[in-house]
Amino acid sequence: MTAREESSSPRMQRSRKDALLNQMRGIDRKKPQVEAETVTLKRAAARFEDLAEYKQVQMQKLAGELVQIGNPFYRTHDVGAGATTEIDGRHLTNFASYDYLGTNQHPLVHAKVQEALARYGVSASASRLVAGERPIHQELEGRLAKIYGTEGAVVFVSGYLTNVTVIGGLMGQDDLVLHDELIHNSILTGVRLSGAARRFFRHNDMAHLQELLESFQGRFRRILVVAEGIYSMDGDVADLPGLVALRERYGFWLMLDEAHALGVLGETGRGTFEHFDIDPGQVDIWSGTLSKATSSCGGYIAGNEALISILKGTAGGFVYSVGLSPPLAAGAVASLDLVAQEPERITRLRRNGAQFLDGARKAGLNTGLSLGFSVIPVIVGDSMRAARLSNDLMAAGVNALPIIHPAVPEGQARLRFFITSEHTSDQIDEAVQLTAECLEKLVAANFGIASLDRQAMARLMSEMASDG
Ligand SMILES: Cc1ncc(COP(=O)(O)O)c(C=O)c1O
Repeated sequence: MTAREESSSPRMQRSRKDALLNQMRGIDRKKPQVEAETVTLKRAAARFEDLAEYKQVQMQKLAGELVQIGNPFYRTHDVGAGATTEIDGRHLTNFASYDYLGTNQHPLVHAKVQEALARYGVSASASRLVAGERPIHQELEGRLAKIYGTEGAVVFVSGYLTNVTVIGGLMGQDDLVLHDELIHNSILTGVRLSGAARRFFRHNDMAHLQELLESFQGRFRRILVVAEGIYSMDGDVADLPGLVALRERYGFWLMLDEAHALGVLGETGRGTFEHFDIDPGQVDIWSGTLSKATSSCGGYIAGNEALISILKGTAGGFVYSVGLSPPLAAGAVASLDLVAQEPERITRLRRNGAQFLDGARKAGLNTGLSLGFSVIPVIVGDSMRAARLSNDLMAAGVNALPIIHPAVPEGQARLRFFITSEHTSDQIDEAVQLTAECLEKLVAANFGIASLDRQAMARLMSEMASDG
């Protein structure tokens, strides 16, 4: 048999095919098989129960038990939550849901969602690239592009995923991301995924950002600067004029996350650029979520044709993920329609935010940097005090959730109030008054980590020590 005949014989073809398949699967037959015993040992060493993260959660639980505070998280709402809600059969005033413009339960929104549901079903049932494209996706993207005056927009199944996949895909190892120190976790995760270098600038501090830009000039292939329109934990607004001026000078890509600003800032709710009367073309990447003022689910990017084409063709979270659920896309479109028809919703939201902020300040509450738009924190410092304050308020009829470390820096624990256009003036006054009263009692009792009695503290310390 000649070499040529041998290579084309069925036996030889099979062994070559096997070798090729093994190569593709990453299997090298020559490598010794890992002993089953070693695997068992490795399994035991990799128990989830032994992870530091699990111990951290357990410690938080224990600390809560020691000071006898019930867990304020994962409260189950029995109805659609807006300005009010129902939990455990109790009717409560609600400041924990970001349905800023009260569209979540509106009949016009429900009608459009039901129409999409009847027509397309619950799911897009495939990535849009293959079989998941529906007209409602294009309608929503057209609406978003119009808001920002951009050549295009693209929607993703989650706001969080949007930032992760967009930054993770666009940036690379030779690049630098500069972000505000209070930036959302989804941005940080995207940068980590991208492998780009990362530095933060002090919150809204343009002089610090400029210093960093000067020092990194010419050392990276590309620089992306990221800020948030309205900061999700603090409720203040990005210095967009300052960012745009620096972009002009240094030529970086500017990305603004409008999660909490769309529908909230600006005369017609178009967001931060409208608030500052700035040309939206000065921002390269507009990012946002559909879960807040448009009371749906999903995220979006608006930008020029090239950016949108790149994302639609290459972003993992778009190409390899199902298309946005058609009823959810319809819900977002309907919310945008409703707000366009009833701009007074934005006016009411603004009035309510101003009333809350003003009342809280007068009552001596620490509202930090908040400008009184959609997000108003009441900073109490101690995590346990924040959790207990939330529980005491709930007992008094108000639902507002604590935000504790690591979502905010240590010592900056707070209750975060989401304001909506649907809160009444009385609900706002009452919530502010109750918060001030409940907090005063906790302060008077010195309630918090510092108030743990000696025995409880010793137990906590010994648990911590035994957990390494
Ligand atoms: C600034 C910011 N960006 C992105 C997200 C993620 O959005 P979503 O919750 O819609 O996934 C959030 C969530 O609250 C946010 O606050």
